[in-house]
Amino acid sequence: MSQVIELKSHPLVSHNLAILRSKDTDSQRFRESAQRLSSMVLMAATESLNTVEQSIETPMQRTTEMVFAEDIWFIPVLRAGLAMVDVGLSLLPDAHVGFVGLYRDEETLEPQYYYKNLPDYSTSAHSCFLMDPMLATGGSACAAIELLKSQGASDIRLLTLICAPEGIKEVFTKHPDIAIFTASVDERLNEIGYIVPGLGDAGDRYFGT
Ligand code: PRP
Ligand code: URA
Repeated sequence: MSQVIELKSHPLVSHNLAILRSKDTDSQRFRESAQRLSSMVLMAATESLNTVEQSIETPMQRTTEMVFAEDIWFIPVLRAGLAMVDVGLSLLPDAHVGFVGLYRDEETLEPQYYYKNLPDYSTSAHSCFLMDPMLATGGSACAAIELLKSQGASDIRLLTLICAPEGIKEVFTKHPDIAIFTASVDERLNEIGYIVPGLGDAGDRYFGT
């Protein structure tokens, strides 16, 4: 697939990115804008899912709507991925939730694994939405994708808010079958592995730490 869908050209996305990025935005407003942007990214990421026609009886007459054909799994990468999962559940209450715990070593920038709670995906039709607001070097995303694949996941979409080109390249080199949905592809990584212009540390800003 190796596809990046970037939503920034839409003014509603750009307006919310302005709030998210500003160093003057407090935790509450940061959380709110992250949630609004997550819902926009989720709208884009669900557009290509398989659907089936469902017959419904309204109070007026019988009609049909298209409903999702497969189990949908939201998998936030702890901690910052939690910013995206509640929004997902409010839009799609029937979805399931798995967890991957990773943090990035600040010296080496290597992902450090500490937790997973994932099912065996090989036995049922599924779509996995891996959620992490930041794709920087791509180390965390690749580690999470490898964990999902080792559990039998075959249909994985990566949902982020801000990506560095370096991280996108890393993901596509190791996992060309992934599609990435994001609010913004930023300029680059700086010398300490942060995305610029970016927003700083997503987990710290979201959780006020
Ligand atoms: C952030 C972010 C990603 C990772 C991205 O997490 O949420 O998981 O960094 O960086 P990478 O692409 O270079 O791997 P962090 O390590 O800060 O952990 P946290 O969410 O617990 O704060
Ligand atoms: N993680 C973040 O939270 N921000 C970055 O810019 C890079 C990694």
